Amino acid sequence: MTAEIIDGKAFAAGLRARVGDVAAAFEAAAGRKAGLAVVLVGEDPASAVYVRSKGKATLAANMASFEHKLPADTDQATLIALVDRLNADGKVDGILVQLPLPKHLDEQAVLLRISPDKDVDGFHPVNAGRLATGMPGFVPCTPLGCLMLLKDQLGDLSGKEAVVIGRSNIVGKPMAALLTAASCTVTLAHSRTRDLPGHVSRADIVVAAVGRAGFVKGEWLKPGATVIDVGINRVDGALTGDVEFDSAASVAGAITPVPGGVGPMTIACLLRNTLVAAHRNAGIALDEAAL
Ligand code: GUN
Repeated sequence: MTAEIIDGKAFAAGLRARVGDVAAAFEAAAGRKAGLAVVLVGEDPASAVYVRSKGKATLAANMASFEHKLPADTDQATLIALVDRLNADGKVDGILVQLPLPKHLDEQAVLLRISPDKDVDGFHPVNAGRLATGMPGFVPCTPLGCLMLLKDQLGDLSGKEAVVIGRSNIVGKPMAALLTAASCTVTLAHSRTRDLPGHVSRADIVVAAVGRAGFVKGEWLKPGATVIDVGINRVDGALTGDVEFDSAASVAGAITPVPGGVGPMTIACLLRNTLVAAHRNAGIALDEAAL
């Protein structure tokens, strides 16, 4: 193995500590804590685990956590009414509705109802548009975390060739927008891409977000490339990424492990976005780039 291992767990811990310090200063200045509301509908065990760890991380970062657990048979009007109450609540700076929602609920309508200025997930089309056009808004947490790891690893990304594999609204598309804004030359590849290995072989940066274990092979990579693996796939009870780690690590310059790479960055970025929202909502200045 030649690649440097990018320690997302350590980077995320540092970010959470910085957020905790700034959150304490926010409380002193605003007379209240920054607040994150998390809404969980139903009893999906994986979602329940995520929501619990988000709540714990929020409290540990000196912020207030408001958990709303609704039964699986909650109707659309009840959920929309809760979102409306949270939009109007001055103690709530960020709102996260845990996805996926039960099938009978209209996910798009719920996401559209969240105030774009409290949309710390960055899923509202207004925030997607702000990202696409360079206006201040909220960027989805996972691609934001990937960008932070890349900048920490490589410094200035200007002029680099980047290939993003996967075009989801939550990861691939915002990732491509962020890398474009950072002056990379971006290829957004997906399931219909012809000659994916050919595209990947030219990339200085590869971000894999396809949801297929071991899909990206080491022999596709340009020697020295930086590889960010967003995949979280369960294979025989173990977590594995979208990149075939052993073959990739013998070619890449640096690579994120799974677990311990991108994963821990998502919650850290959620806390960061909530703290940014709190400052904006309270009209208190914050050097967002320093967080
Ligand atoms: N479900 C899995 N990950 C996420 C996330 O980052 N945000 C929301 N809202 N739901 C999720």
